[in-house]
Amino acid sequence: MEHIPVMLSEVCSSMQLESGKRCLDMTVGLAGHAGRILEAISPNGFLLGLDRDSETLPLAYEKLKAIGSDFQLKHSDYGKVAEVCAEMGLTGFDAILCDCGISSVQLDDPERGFGFLENAPLDMRMDRNDPLTAADLLNTLSEGELADIFFHYGDERFSRPIARAVVMKRQDKRFSLNSELAALVSGVYYRKGFRHSKVHPATKVFQALRIAVNHEADSLMQGLKGAVTLLAPKGRLVVISFHSGEDRIVKNLFKEFKTEGLGTIVTKKPQKPTEEEVARNPRSRSALMRVFERSNTGEENV
Ligand SMILES: C[S@@+](CC[C@H](N)C(=O)[O-])C[C@H]1O[C@@H](n2cnc3c(N)ncnc32)[C@H](O)[C@@H]1O
Repeated sequence: MEHIPVMLSEVCSSMQLESGKRCLDMTVGLAGHAGRILEAISPNGFLLGLDRDSETLPLAYEKLKAIGSDFQLKHSDYGKVAEVCAEMGLTGFDAILCDCGISSVQLDDPERGFGFLENAPLDMRMDRNDPLTAADLLNTLSEGELADIFFHYGDERFSRPIARAVVMKRQDKRFSLNSELAALVSGVYYRKGFRHSKVHPATKVFQALRIAVNHEADSLMQGLKGAVTLLAPKGRLVVISFHSGEDRIVKNLFKEFKTEGLGTIVTKKPQKPTEEEVARNPRSRSALMRVFERSNTGEENV
């Protein structure tokens, strides 16, 4: 499935795009947002795009080069955005976007193991140079550690019975395929009396494992702390998250930034996609957008 950028018009208006602006997309992905950003800031603007998945960057490059040439792409974890920009000699961005999670192209590629419908390896690494896969975590972590991951990163109501079932099952055979985990989670739901649902019962467990495999919570915290220092006066940081744990990190960091006198919170509550957007693109249903604006000098208390 093609990746449809989430809350595209809300993102662009929050970024206050116009020609000549300097922007950073920390999750360039398939350049859905980045393409629209580059169009809006041309001519004389500049766009830096980062992605942790090196396989996505050539696709983004092809798309962006058809729109303009004032951009650069870099393979990086956005947790290191401050260091990467310092090395490149870049700062003073007018707008920065972070669209968390994975793209539809990653989700639909059976070899990456992010989805549960294909008989794929339980991998889930965004950067395939990283050492640990989802199978490694499932086969080695304790029952308590697995339950915590399912609960904190997936809001999974059956985190404990699922963790128990994983530990029992792996005594017979180590996990290697995503279908094995999907069937195990479906079994727990079935035994608990949940036999019909629109969304696959393993959705939350898969999301939680992906977040753990990729240390997404740490990256998000480091990334946003770095991003706020890279904003020009009145520059905007726009973040789209996809579950309550991620949104909590964004909300708390924005409060910290405000307390430190770095600027103001533009969105008191997270903005959500319209009903029309959710009908058109069901994958947008859990999106939550928050916006922070850097103060004039970056120093005064607000
Ligand atoms: C939801 S997609 C972004 C889609 C993009 N906005 C578009 O419209 O095409 C999220 C992207 O962020 C990347 N990503 C996830 N975590 C990352 C991290 N810590 N550092 C850099 N990129 C990351 C993923 O590889 C994926 O390509």
